[in-house]
Amino acid sequence: MSQRKTVNEILEKKKKGERITMLTAYDYPMARLIDEAGIDIVLVGDSLANVVLGLESTKEIGMEEMLHHAKAVNRGVTKALLVGDMPFGSFHQDSKESVRNAALFIEDAGCNAVKLEWYDNCLVMAKAIVDFGIPVMGHIGLTPQTADQLGGFIVQGRDHDTAQRLIEQARSLQKAGCFSIVLECVPDKLSEIITKSLDIPTIGIGAGVHCDGQVLVTHDILGLYDRFRPKFVKQYTNLSEPIKAALESYKKDVELGHFPSEKYSFSIKKEELEGLL
Ligand code: KIV
Repeated sequence: MSQRKTVNEILEKKKKGERITMLTAYDYPMARLIDEAGIDIVLVGDSLANVVLGLESTKEIGMEEMLHHAKAVNRGVTKALLVGDMPFGSFHQDSKESVRNAALFIEDAGCNAVKLEWYDNCLVMAKAIVDFGIPVMGHIGLTPQTADQLGGFIVQGRDHDTAQRLIEQARSLQKAGCFSIVLECVPDKLSEIITKSLDIPTIGIGAGVHCDGQVLVTHDILGLYDRFRPKFVKQYTNLSEPIKAALESYKKDVELGHFPSEKYSFSIKKEELEGLL
């Protein structure tokens, strides 16, 4: 039986004032490490497009890529709640199609919930997915799938009107039945207002310390993605350096004939060899 965290346990954390931890994963080995570290929520984010597939925009991937990676992550997660990120276009056409795609994350890929980024008609889709019985995490503020309409990759909600709009979006997502909301790139004081006005937890990314939880892209905190580093990223280690050093040592060893030595080779009995010779 699954020992994974439940949506109710995540909701309980907010009630008890316990902070929620969340990180992204895109493959089995990293999913295992994150799970073993005791992180509450693992997100198969559509940041897969940038940090793993080397694409420019998260808009460039679809259900096929997301499900492929979600299935791998699912095999490595035993304790965390697993959330699949609905890619651009998968929850935009109509609610039937949105529910069908959300169900694929649950039934095919083994996720426990889905996340969807805000766009003007997303409430209808979020409600339909929740009504179907699938837990939904909302995502407002800087939503990369629609960043072009938000003036680019910039902080959101810095003036009264846009801040008010974000407060309303958060409330409407809660009303639609979402169990939590990611706040991306919003001023910390606005996050505080939103967090205090909701019963469901907020998970911040570039949203200050007042959110109920925190998410970051794992490749960013481990120094595995250097194309772009937002201000809100704290790099906890730089794995690129030791990885590069190990790869260079391997190259040198092979070129000099130091690897594979006898230790890494197999033997054949002398009499068998003599027959061959
Ligand atoms: O795709 C992603 O990585 C996200 C972030 C909120 C972490 O959506």
